[in-house]
Amino acid sequence: RHHILGLADWNTEEYEILLQTASSFREVLSRRTKKVPALQGQVVTNMFFEPSTRTRSSFELAAKRLSADILNFAPGTSSLSKGETILDTAKTYLAMGTDIMVIRHKQAGVPHAIAAEMDRLKTGVSILNGGDGQHEHPSQALLDLFTLCSLIDAENPRLALLKSKKIAIVGDILHSRVARSNIWSLLAAGTQVHLAGPPTLVPQFFAEIATETYPNQLALHWQIEPALKDADFVMTLRLQHERMTDHLLPSLREYHQHYGITRDRLKLCHPDVKVLHPGPVNRGVEISSDLMDDPAFSLIQQQVTSGIAVRMALLYLIGTLKSE
Ligand code: CP
Repeated sequence: RHHILGLADWNTEEYEILLQTASSFREVLSRRTKKVPALQGQVVTNMFFEPSTRTRSSFELAAKRLSADILNFAPGTSSLSKGETILDTAKTYLAMGTDIMVIRHKQAGVPHAIAAEMDRLKTGVSILNGGDGQHEHPSQALLDLFTLCSLIDAENPRLALLKSKKIAIVGDILHSRVARSNIWSLLAAGTQVHLAGPPTLVPQFFAEIATETYPNQLALHWQIEPALKDADFVMTLRLQHERMTDHLLPSLREYHQHYGITRDRLKLCHPDVKVLHPGPVNRGVEISSDLMDDPAFSLIQQQVTSGIAVRMALLYLIGTLKSE
């Protein structure tokens, strides 16, 4: 695969290769040097047109651990403000010798448009989607998958470990590219996926998919309780105020009352339940503040740590494919 734009069409073998490769890089990261020469001489350019802490920094660190050179494009101080287009910006970085571009944009499809242009020009440049609008955030879902599989078998994380486990994905699913990518990967793993949120924030699209394609694997709920019942994992999502129109916006107090993840609510789940959140978190809204910081339940810090090995694996797999 030359570009990583989304997970909707990934097959089992691709997930397994990614998990195994990330596992190898986790071992590299446990060494004193933490570095391999795999992408020496290659240039990775981070092009983030939307804010990011985790994705941008961990792609940067992952590229450095692979010995690539990394450029960080910052829209606020760039020539975008003088009217340069996104495609011309991408071509400028191409002219500097970029091999891999990691692209985040508030508009769905921007990484795809740049990938199409790079292919049309026969540049050989690979595009990694760092999150496009409400569409997909593949590297986040892959790091979530790696975190969950590693929790069950750290030595040999693999897709089959999640078969028949139950995950509740709770909150603003409509605006969440993270939820969308996670739904594809977890369905591929054979996981029971239960979506729960206010009716205005759970898209009808998934009701159709549930009925037509995954009647025994995907379920939607407007109440949180049936989604949480006996769940092995709970993934709670940020309310994305920046993408909401007023009529979709529940009050924060009301939202926490009906959908917030609290210790009391976790009593409905499997006794060993773990909680995920892609970050950034609205503390006390989608998850209670004390629960977020409780390592007995929260996987939030592990998710961030997993992100480095998983992003090393993604850069390595497409970077080495290019040099073959
Ligand atoms: N989860 C995630 O995408 O976080 P950032 O916006 O900080 O990159």
